[in-house]
Amino acid sequence: MQSAKFYVTTPIYYVNAKPHIGHAYTTILADVLARYHRLMGVPSFFLTGTDEHGQKVSQAAEKAGMTPQQQADGTVVRFQDAWKKFEITNDDFIRTTEPRHKTVVQAILQDLFDKDEIYRADYDGWYCVTCERFFTEKDLIDGKCPEPGCGRDVEKIRESNYFFRMSKYQDWLMQYIQDNPKFIQPDFRRNETLGFLKKKLNDLCISRPKSRMSWGIELPFDKAFVTYVWFDALLNYITAIGYLSDEAKFRKWWPASCQLIGKDILTTHTVYWPTMLKAMNLPLPETVFAHGWWLSGREKMSKTLGNVVNPMEYADKYGVDAFRYFLMAEMSLGQDADFTEDVFLRRYNTDLANDLGNLLSRVMKLIGSYCDGLVPSVGSLGQDEEFLKKVALAAVEKMADAVARMRIDIGLAEVATVVRETNRYLEKTQPWTLGKKGEKEQLGTVMYFSVEVLRIVSGLLYPVMPTQMIVLRKALGLSESQPDFSSLKTWGVIKPGAPIGQMINLFPRIAPAAQDDKERKGSAMTEVPVLAKTQNVPEQKQPIAAPAGVAQIEYTDFTKVQLCTAVIESAEKVEGADKLLRLQIKIGDEARQIVAGIALHYKPEELPGKRIVVVANLKPAKIRGVESNGMLLAASSGGVMKLITVDGELPSGAVVK
Ligand code: ME8
Ligand code: MG
Repeated sequence: MQSAKFYVTTPIYYVNAKPHIGHAYTTILADVLARYHRLMGVPSFFLTGTDEHGQKVSQAAEKAGMTPQQQADGTVVRFQDAWKKFEITNDDFIRTTEPRHKTVVQAILQDLFDKDEIYRADYDGWYCVTCERFFTEKDLIDGKCPEPGCGRDVEKIRESNYFFRMSKYQDWLMQYIQDNPKFIQPDFRRNETLGFLKKKLNDLCISRPKSRMSWGIELPFDKAFVTYVWFDALLNYITAIGYLSDEAKFRKWWPASCQLIGKDILTTHTVYWPTMLKAMNLPLPETVFAHGWWLSGREKMSKTLGNVVNPMEYADKYGVDAFRYFLMAEMSLGQDADFTEDVFLRRYNTDLANDLGNLLSRVMKLIGSYCDGLVPSVGSLGQDEEFLKKVALAAVEKMADAVARMRIDIGLAEVATVVRETNRYLEKTQPWTLGKKGEKEQLGTVMYFSVEVLRIVSGLLYPVMPTQMIVLRKALGLSESQPDFSSLKTWGVIKPGAPIGQMINLFPRIAPAAQDDKERKGSAMTEVPVLAKTQNVPEQKQPIAAPAGVAQIEYTDFTKVQLCTAVIESAEKVEGADKLLRLQIKIGDEARQIVAGIALHYKPEELPGKRIVVVANLKPAKIRGVESNGMLLAASSGGVMKLITVDGELPSGAVVK
C-alpha cells in the first residue's frame, strides 16, 4: 500500500444512532494509517462521513417524531464532535444528503440507465429492513435474513423496480479477485467472497418505490422511485473526491489505496461496489480491508446484554490517546478482539504507565539531578549501546513494514519491545548509582542513549497518540509540531547540551483497588475492586478483595442472601432525589419495583433490557417515600459506578451463588 499517494476511506455511518465503539475503531484506524503515511511523506487523503438515506434512518426519525433530515442533522453533529474529540484528521466529511453527492449520484444513474446497465422489471422477493437488502427465497436461511450475524425476520415484497445488471459481471469479478490477491484482504475474506460468488449472482435492485419508502435520492429517469440506499452510499467514495465535478482531483486520488470496512459489509463492498465501478468504467480500489469485531467479554456487544462499550466514556476516563493506543495495539487486524475494562487497564498499566511512562520519568529525573537538566554528551560505547541503537532503528523499519501490511498491532509491539529493552538497559547500567558515584562520562552515555530512544519511540507512536507524544517530544526539547520520519531513521539527532523540560507524568498508573477504600466505606453497595495486572510491579501481597474493617462471615451467612438475575423493564427518576432511580424489574415472571442510587451514573433510557444481579430477599423498605423491594448490585471505583451483569445469556430469575 505504499505508492505515490494514499487514499483511505471508512464506511459512511448510518445516522440512525449515535457513534459507538465500532465506528470509533474504524475511524481511528483510518486516522492512524493516514497519519503514518503523512509522516512518511506520502500525500494522503482521508475520507469519512455519514450514510443518511434509507429505511433505517427514516424509521429512526419516525420513532423520534422528526423528519429524516432533522434526524440526520441532529445525529451527524454527534459523529463530527466525536471525531474532533478523538483527534481524527479526516480531509473531508461527506454526507449523502449534500447536493454535491446527490447530483453526481443522479448523473451516474442516468448514464447507467442510458447505457442499459439499469432496466425495469417486476420483482418478487424478501427484504430485511435492518440490512436494507433484498433476498431471493433460496438466499434465506431457515426463512430468515442470511446476513452473518443478522438472522432477523424478512418481509415478503412484490413490486416493480429498477435493476442494475450485476449478474453479467459475475465471471469477470471472480477472475479479477483471483488475479488481484490484494483487492480483498485479509485472505480469508477474499475466500469468503469467492465462495459467495459460486452461487449465481442476481441483478441488483437499485430502486425503492416512493409509495413504500420515500427517503432517498430520486431516480432521474423515474420520479416515482428513490435510489436504494447502498447504491447511493457506496458512491460517496468517488463523489467526495470530485467524480464528474472536479476531474483533476478525482484523477489524483482514485483508485482508493485502502477502503476499510467491518466484516459485516463485505458483500456490498466486494461484490456490489466493484461491479458498479466496472459498469462505470472505473478502476477498482487497490484494497478493501475487512476488520473483525470488537466483542465484550467475548460476546457480541448488545444493548440487551448491557455490555456495550461507550467510546466517549473511555476517552473521558483514561484519555483519548490511551484509548486510541488500546484499540490499535489490542486488535490484530482481521480478527475479532475483546474489549473489557480489565483488558484495557492491563494494557494501559503495562505498556503505557509502567514501561513508557516509567522510562520517561526515570530519564528526566536523572538528567535533572545529575546533568543540570541538559542532554549530556556521549562517552565510550560498549555492546549494550550498539545493541540498543540497533533495536531502536530496526523498529522504525519494522513499523513501516507493519503499516504496509496493515499490522499496526505488530508495529506497536515492536515499539513496546524497544521501550522494555531500554528499561532493561537502565537496570543493567544503573545510572542512579553512576550519578551518586560521580561517574559522569558513563552516566552521560546512558542518558544520551535513553533520550535518543525516547525520541525515536515518540515519533513512532505519534500517529497513534498525537497529543501525548508531542508533549513527550517537547519535554525532550524537540520543538517541531510533527516528527519527520527520515529523522527517525537517523541516530544522534538530539544535540548534547539541549535543555530537557519539566518532569511530566504522561500516563499515571491507574491504581488498583486499595486506593479506593475511602470511597468503599461511604457506599452501601457491593464493591468489586478494579484489578490491574502489571509486569513490572510486584504482586500485591494483600488480598485486594477483602477491604479493611469488614469482618469475615461464615458460608452459611452468605447463603442467607438470595442473589438472582433480573432484567430491567423500565426506569425513571425519583422526584426530588437526584441520585435515585425507580426501576421496574422482572425476576423470572415476578415483577418488582426497586429504588437504586445510580442516577448519577445511568440515564433512565439506558437501562431497559439490562440484565442485572439483585438481592431478592431483602426486606421491603421505603426510600424517599417510594417502595423498594430488593436491591441491585453495582461496583464502583474512582467515582465511576457500573451495574453488575452476567457474563453471557441467562434467563432472569437465575440463582447467583
Ligand atoms: O453499515 N466492531 O453503517 P453502520 C468493529 N452505512 N467495528 C464495528 C462494530 C464492531 N462491533 N460495529 C460496527 C453501515 N462497526 C453503512 C455503510 S458504506 C458505503 C455504508 C463498524 O453505521 C465497521 O466499520 O452500520 C462497520 O463496517 C461499520 O461500523 C458499520 O457502520
Ligand atoms: Mg450496521
